[in-house]
Amino acid sequence: MRKLCPAKLEGRDKGDLISLITSDVELLEVFYAHTISPICIAILTELVMVTFIGSYHWSLGLLALAAYVSVGVILPVIISKISGTIGDEIRSQSGGLAAYVLESIRGLDETIQYGNGQQRLEGMNKKTNELSLSQGQLNKLTGYNIAIANTFILVFDTAMLLLSAYLYSEGITDFSGFIIPLIALMSSFGPVTALANLGTTLENTIASGGRVLDIIEEKPETEEITGKQSVKYSGADCDNIIFSYGGENVLENITIEFPENKIVGIIGRSGCGKSTLLKLMMRFWKTSSGSIHVSNTDIENINTADLRNMESYMTQETQLFKDTIANNIRIAKLDSTDEEIITACKKASLHDFIMTLPDGYETQVGELGETLSGGERQRIGLARAFLHNADLMLLDEPTSNLDSLNEAVILRSLKEESAGKTVVLVSHRSSTLRIADIVHSMKNGRLS
Ligand SMILES: Nc1ncnc2c1ncn2[C@@H]1O[C@H](COP(=O)(O)OP(=O)(O)OP(=O)(O)O)[C@@H](O)[C@H]1O
Ligand SMILES: [Mg+2]
Repeated sequence: MRKLCPAKLEGRDKGDLISLITSDVELLEVFYAHTISPICIAILTELVMVTFIGSYHWSLGLLALAAYVSVGVILPVIISKISGTIGDEIRSQSGGLAAYVLESIRGLDETIQYGNGQQRLEGMNKKTNELSLSQGQLNKLTGYNIAIANTFILVFDTAMLLLSAYLYSEGITDFSGFIIPLIALMSSFGPVTALANLGTTLENTIASGGRVLDIIEEKPETEEITGKQSVKYSGADCDNIIFSYGGENVLENITIEFPENKIVGIIGRSGCGKSTLLKLMMRFWKTSSGSIHVSNTDIENINTADLRNMESYMTQETQLFKDTIANNIRIAKLDSTDEEIITACKKASLHDFIMTLPDGYETQVGELGETLSGGERQRIGLARAFLHNADLMLLDEPTSNLDSLNEAVILRSLKEESAGKTVVLVSHRSSTLRIADIVHSMKNGRLS
């Protein structure tokens, strides 16, 4: 998954990914730790037992073999075929239910505002019922499985009793040949009953293996580049790039210069491809044609780690982690000192706000940063970008949630920062673009 980030994970169902790394991997663990060894143990023990029982008379050995194969091989294969995709359905239904509950909790405000509570509740009940139904089917099947296995064992024990009694009465075997094979068979079903219980999980394990292999074999959108010579930053540019996410072209023939010491503004309507251009600069995605250069080197020839070090990318939505404010900012430079963090926060007009909090920089941020306002979150994103202190700052709508006072502080900081660097400023606000040295306007994926 790490290799597939971020492009190949962007559109995927997150609930599905979570169950892949939890239940699928767990099933495989169970398979390797608790399935392979029982199979080996069963084969070995039962071979010894068949030989031992067969040493009294070949027909007794043959009957024991038939008993073991029926309970340990034929039964699990049949049950596995019958249970088919039930386990798989349970997995996807419980993933779907978890995702639905999570989505409902996140969307509580909208649900209350538009009075959709009843409809959400019905949705949740429907999903819960479907899951209970499948779970019930599986439990029933497991019950049948155990019952049938026990019936098989009783039938074979009886058959052994009758056969050994017949051989004894005919004088073919002595008394020990009557009693010992019977006791041996009755007490040796343990290893094969362990196999009989595999029936209901076998198909799921195979399906889980398939899903894990699929994700391992999936080709990442961009491969990590290593082993290239480091380059010193000297500006960037895009040369006639074309890009599509798979359908229509989102960017068409974009040629643009991002010189050193300059602030380059990009303005354009929602959906015209501004954020996409920044993602391509980060090499999250690959251009369909044309090339992007940083320091006169095609970014396909720059070590990925070096490229990401040279660039500071502030995304449109700032993602916060459940941790302190200081640690949330520190992710941009893990070895930063407290002073560096404070300086970055001052540049992002965030320091004064943090000082008003009861625990200052050590204040915990709630899950997803819900305890902060949109503007505060955005300024944390900016503080990260300042702290990272990269040569090429790619800022996607950095001021969209800010009042003019905070905006002014940040613009001043950006102006100061731009010395020796390049700042790419994507924004709808003309007040923000005022500080840009050059402003390009984008329309339907083209620059004009
Ligand atoms: N991962 C994706 N897969 C498919 N299409 C995408 C993906 N991301 C964005 N798009 C589409 O690409 C187009 C450009 O999106 P982009 O995010 O670059 O626009 P934008 O100019 O940044 O818009 P905004 O100002 O609203 O942020 C949009 O039509 C969008 O629907
Ligand atoms: Mg955007």
